[in-house]
Amino acid sequence: MLDPQRQGVSIEAVTKVFGSTEVLKGVSLDIGAGEFLTLLGPSGCGKSTLLRVIAGLERQDGGSISIGGRIVDGLRAKLRDVAMVFQSYALYPHMTAGQNIALPLRMRRLSLAQRLPLLGRFVPGRKAALEEIDREVQQTARALEIEHLLHRKPGQLSGGQRQRVAAGRAMVRHPAVFLMDEPLSNLDAKLRVQMRAEIKELHRRLDATFIYVTHDQAEAMTMSDRVAVMFDGEVLQVAPPQEIYADPANRQVAEFVGSPKINMLEGLVGDKGRIAAAGTTFRLAAAPTLAPETAVAIGIRPEAFYLAKHAGRGIVTGSVRLVEHMGSDLFIHLDGPGAREPIVARLPAERAPEIQLGQTVHLGVDPARMVAFDAEGRRIRHERATVAELRRSA
Ligand SMILES: Nc1ncnc2c1ncn2[C@@H]1O[C@H](COP(=O)(O)OP(=O)(O)O)[C@@H](O)[C@H]1O
Ligand SMILES: [Mg+2]
Repeated sequence: MLDPQRQGVSIEAVTKVFGSTEVLKGVSLDIGAGEFLTLLGPSGCGKSTLLRVIAGLERQDGGSISIGGRIVDGLRAKLRDVAMVFQSYALYPHMTAGQNIALPLRMRRLSLAQRLPLLGRFVPGRKAALEEIDREVQQTARALEIEHLLHRKPGQLSGGQRQRVAAGRAMVRHPAVFLMDEPLSNLDAKLRVQMRAEIKELHRRLDATFIYVTHDQAEAMTMSDRVAVMFDGEVLQVAPPQEIYADPANRQVAEFVGSPKINMLEGLVGDKGRIAAAGTTFRLAAAPTLAPETAVAIGIRPEAFYLAKHAGRGIVTGSVRLVEHMGSDLFIHLDGPGAREPIVARLPAERAPEIQLGQTVHLGVDPARMVAFDAEGRRIRHERATVAELRRSA
């Protein structure tokens, strides 16, 4: 078993400007030793820049990074005890898997003279150093179960095997922190799903800190201990995947995570804290504190709907414009009054016979599963006690 020292990473108010654009706007984030943290956000939001700043490949303009409690701001990439795992094509095609893995060790342990192709063998100390490198490559290969592949060139390996060799090349240096920038983005959809499990397993085995960058919310949700959602150079929320999904801090996070997307019903606060939206009125736990005529968006996940018998308060009524059979579930798209986009509900597949195109259906929602946002997209919080009250009175 390999034993990287588990070390946490602390990012404090990091800023980065390219030209006149502030690409990182004061990012602060604490990543625990041994944690799997994912930076999730749309393309261009600054994920790679942040990762490169942590790696020391890019210098920040403000703020500070520490690794294992040690400030690394002035330190070159090589001295930071981090390893970047690049996409699989970053392997040298003319070298074997074993040579690829050995490369960082050769660069580090052999002098320039010892690395000379012909004369190097006459330089003292070379043989012993090479034997030690070979032992370490074998040990790494054993941990990754790729010993039998060491003599093959990357072209003779599957995508998953290449990924493991790339991981091996990062691992031989025993870094405390692994940085991965969209490592699966070049793989086909099926392999991507398999590799998620492999990377998770690698994390478990190495017991090291992983910082993983992706724009793919499914990857982030399935692999991470915690997800940091980034938009436009800022971290909007840091939480375990379930919390990001069920308890989003703001509208951007709610809309970025989850597929199909969360339904957003634009509404207005009316009297007695009722909210008019999608042709009905909702009682929202948070609403009593809101001034009448306030604009509110109510977020409802597709699976939070259930089929109701009648129209009524808090029941969305509309006609079915599309039915998608997913095997285990059924997605129905509803043209609802007052809704800008179709409302999407996920129902159990058994309900399929009851749903016809063009038919009018009624959808109810548990008030505890509604999330409300103000006009700026900030979450409107409520007391749990109020939800219980609403459920009783519903
Ligand atoms: N070296 C650079 N010079 C100028 N602009 C850059 C450079 N690197 C990144 N950017 C810009 O910074 C923003 C964030 O980029 P990046 O960190 O690569 O985002 P992400 O990885 O989230 O897609 C983008 O608008 C990008 O065009
Ligand atoms: Mg990127």
